[in-house]
Parts: sequence; C-alpha cells; structure tokens
Amino acid sequence: MARVAVSMAAAPTTPAVELEDIQGLMRFAYKHHTEAVFLLLRITDRAAARTWLARAAITDAVTRDPAPNTALQVAVTSGGLRALGVAEDIIHSFSPEFVEGMAGDPGRSRRLGDQGANDPARWQWGSGKRIPHVAVLLYALPGLLRGLQHTIEEQLRAGFEIAVRLTTANLDGVEPFGFVDGISQPELDWSRQRAVRDVGQRSYVNLSCLGEYLLGYPNEYGLYTPRALLGPHRDAQEILPRAEDAPESCDLGRNGSYLVLRQLRQDVPGFWQALDRYAGGDAARREQLASAMVGRKLDGQPLIVLQSSAAPASDDPQSSMNAFDYRSDPQGLRCPLGAHIRRANPRNADLPPGADGIVSRLVRTLGFDGPARERDLVASTRFHRLLRRGREYGVGVTPAQALAGTGAGEDRGLHFVCLGANLQRQFEFVQSAWLMSTKFDGMREESDPLLGNRLPVAAGMPADRFSAAQPNGPSQCLTGLPQFVTVLGGAYFFLPGIRALRFLSGTH
Ligand code: HEM
Repeated sequence: MARVAVSMAAAPTTPAVELEDIQGLMRFAYKHHTEAVFLLLRITDRAAARTWLARAAITDAVTRDPAPNTALQVAVTSGGLRALGVAEDIIHSFSPEFVEGMAGDPGRSRRLGDQGANDPARWQWGSGKRIPHVAVLLYALPGLLRGLQHTIEEQLRAGFEIAVRLTTANLDGVEPFGFVDGISQPELDWSRQRAVRDVGQRSYVNLSCLGEYLLGYPNEYGLYTPRALLGPHRDAQEILPRAEDAPESCDLGRNGSYLVLRQLRQDVPGFWQALDRYAGGDAARREQLASAMVGRKLDGQPLIVLQSSAAPASDDPQSSMNAFDYRSDPQGLRCPLGAHIRRANPRNADLPPGADGIVSRLVRTLGFDGPARERDLVASTRFHRLLRRGREYGVGVTPAQALAGTGAGEDRGLHFVCLGANLQRQFEFVQSAWLMSTKFDGMREESDPLLGNRLPVAAGMPADRFSAAQPNGPSQCLTGLPQFVTVLGGAYFFLPGIRALRFLSGTH
C-alpha cells in the first residue's frame, strides 16, 4: 500500500501515516455532511455479512478536493467479532473493556453512572440481547442521505438485521440545551512531530500524540497501546501491516481505534425550568447559572479570559475560543471547578499548580501535601483526552420555548461518540473519575452538573449539588438538582483500519 506523508517536515526516520488505511472519522468530523444516520446491526447471515464487510466502500482519511459527497464508516463490537466467527483468542487480544462491553459488568455501570434511570436494564439498546454487532455510520452533504441510506440498507439486507436506526438532527452546531458545541478538540499530531516522552510536561498543550487515538502509534507515554498482535501464520494472505514496535507480528489494531457510542437523552425543558427556579425568574441570572454549569456562554465563549500564550497550534477558527487554561482561576471564581468543560478537560499538565521547585515536587510526589494530593486527581490531562464526534438528535427547541414547556416529553439529545486508543484511560476515566465522581478537585457532594444521575453515594451523601466559588464569601451552592441527561443506550466498538476490517471479514 502506498503511504502518504502528511508533512514534508516529518523526521526522515518516522514512518508516515497511512491515511488510506484509516477511517475518515479519525481525521474529519464531517461537519459539512450535516445529514447522518447511525445504523446498529445484528448479523443474521455470517457469510453474507462477511461479504458485505469485505467490499464495503469505507471512506478513508485522505484529504480530497472536492470532499466526497457521502461517507461510510464501519465499527464492530466484541459480540460482532464473535458473530463474524473471529477466533476467541483474537477477540481476547483486544482491550478487556471492549471485550466485556459497556453494559457487561455492574461495577463498570456503577462507575460510569449507569444506575437508576441510566441502568442498562432500562436501555432501548445496548444491553442483553440488544447489543449491536456492527455500527454503520452514514454521513452525507445536504439532501443526499436518503439515497445513500436506501442503497446501503438494500446491500445490508442479505447479512444483517437493522436493529436500531439512530437518526440525527442538524441543529447548526448547537447542542439541545442551546450551547454551541464541537469547539474544543485535541489536535492530532498527524505529522508525528511531537516528541514522545514519559517525563513531566509542565504546561497544557492541545497537540496530542497520534497513538492516543490511533492504535499502532506511540502514545503520550511514548509507548504503543496494547492491541491485537498476531503471529504471521494467522495472516497467510498478508493483509495486515506489521507492527511498528514488533515487526515480527501482524498488527490488527494499526490504524484503528475504539469508538464509544452513547445515546444521551436531554430534558431541555427540565433544564431551563430548573435553572429558572434557582434564578427566581431572573433571565440574566438563569443564563449565568447555565453558563457556569457548562463553563462557556451559550455562544461558546469561555468564562476564562483568553490568553494568547495558550493558543493551540491549529488554524481552525474555533480554536480562538480555546486559547485558555485554568491557571489564572485556581479557585474557580470565573469558571466553577465543577463546570462541565472543566471536569471533562481540566487543562493542566503533569504536576499540580505550584509544584515548581525540586523540593516541592518531591514533597508532592511522596504524597505529604494534602491539598495537592486532591489536585492530583485532576493532573495530567494529556493522558485523558477524547476525540468527540457526536451528533444531536430530535427536534430543537430554544431556551425560551423550553421554558414555556414546548417539547416536554419529546426525545431529543446527543448521540455521544468519542474515539480513543484506550477505553479505560480515556472515556472510562473521564466519565467516571471526572464527570460522575463526587470527589473531584476538592468537591464532595456534586457530580457533573449536566450529566450527573444525582443518586446519593455511600452513606447517603448527596450528589445533587452544584457549587460556584464567590470572591467575597462562601461558595454559592444549588441543591436538589434534577437529572437532566438520561442514558438510553450505549456500546463500545472497534473502528478498524480498512485492512483490518478486510482481515476480520475473512476466514480465520
Ligand atoms: C448530553 C450530554 C452532553 C452535553 C449536552 C455536553 C455539552 C458540552 C458542551 C456545550 C461543551 C462545550 C463545547 C465544546 O468545547 O465543544 C462540551 C465540551 C466537552 N464535553 Fe460535553 N456534553 C455532553 C456529554 C459529554 C460526555 C458524556 C463527555 C465525556 C465522557 C463529554 C466530554 C466533553 C469534553 C472532553 C469537552 C471539551 C472540554 C474542553 O476541552 O474544554 N461531554 N460538552
């Protein structure tokens, strides 16, 4: 296969990235492809399913001008690999989280906040017999989805049952609560310029090693994330590439990633009506509270003053709204410590703030500094980044309509999608330790203000609060927050490299 060098400046010893083998979603959000549908499939005929997967016209990550009118991406669950007849030892060489599945273990469900109204037993899809085998993600320029979907569904008929069609809505870049979304993303080091290292990095940077998202490349530890490596005898047709770090092995992971899909229903009237009650009907206060919970204003502006020094390298226009970290606001006076974006990406580096001297580093490293230990919970953001690719669904309502009760009871929300090479260290860590945990950055009785399930934790400690530090006096604290987001379904998928998909659809 021809290899495409993304940058002429790439070090001569660094192998170039094989964009033709990578599914396009890794590189593009398909923002101009405003129409999309996610088909969740169960395999009904193994041979026919394999034939389709072997021939499917997967859209790759090569930049084309003009961009293709439509895009097709395919991902598979561990149950899907089994249904395809992939050997059990190969399946077990994938990560345990993927093999067990999102709803496969009560401990995992508890950590992810999938309890109470979010309990997998209540999901519309993704647990028990309703775990999909394959996800087919279709994207199209305006007006072209219907035809594409019709063609693909005809092709799928022989080998699959379409268990769920997750339709999406184009809300012009605004998520259902009314906030501009899709602003902050890690920048992937496609040219492999970023020095890989396992030493402390002292400031937050947005550029992230490719191996954080793509299997088969070095990650932020300078290591290759464990993945399915096979002896050459398993790949007699020599479909797979050799592993960069172990050339004697065939790399089934290379150019692939794990894909997390969660259907998150948003109670938009419930959100705005609750905030209105807390604000005593004051419109400005209501919007201020909502912004404090998100960490950005409705138009996407961050609550933190933008700094030119923290500007990411990207020339993406959205990145101007990303040029900040939280060093100027250690107490959360501008952006509450528990705001959604501050929990989801605390934007700090390897060491807690203030850990500049050798002695101070040693004291903290040895764990003798109590407050710093708590801050350690949010350190080292670079190991916990997510590449988000979600799409909204349902009919949009404005905050004013939601306040008036319009759309109450309707199903709308986010088909949350994120990509990462390590499910445990990325999605599961962010979801459980930062978003759902009530112990975050010194706080005790609150979880993420948007996503929390509000269920009391052990010993009846409440988890339904939201606090915001005030400059002159005690923190302001909202109590009795209702649940605004409910999980309706979810699954972990493997988004294979295109050669890996052909390999998996063969006979082994
Ligand atoms: C219905 C559910 C959710 C809503 C309404 C929501 C809303 C938002 C909004 C408005 C932003 C700011 C815009 C941006 O930076 O792109 C944001 C950022 C973000 N969200 Fe969510 N989100 C939801 C679920 C999640 C989940 C489940 C996760 C992870 C497990 C997550 C992780 C993030 C991350 C990593 C950022 C970027 C933070 C940063 O880098 O500053 N979100 N979200």
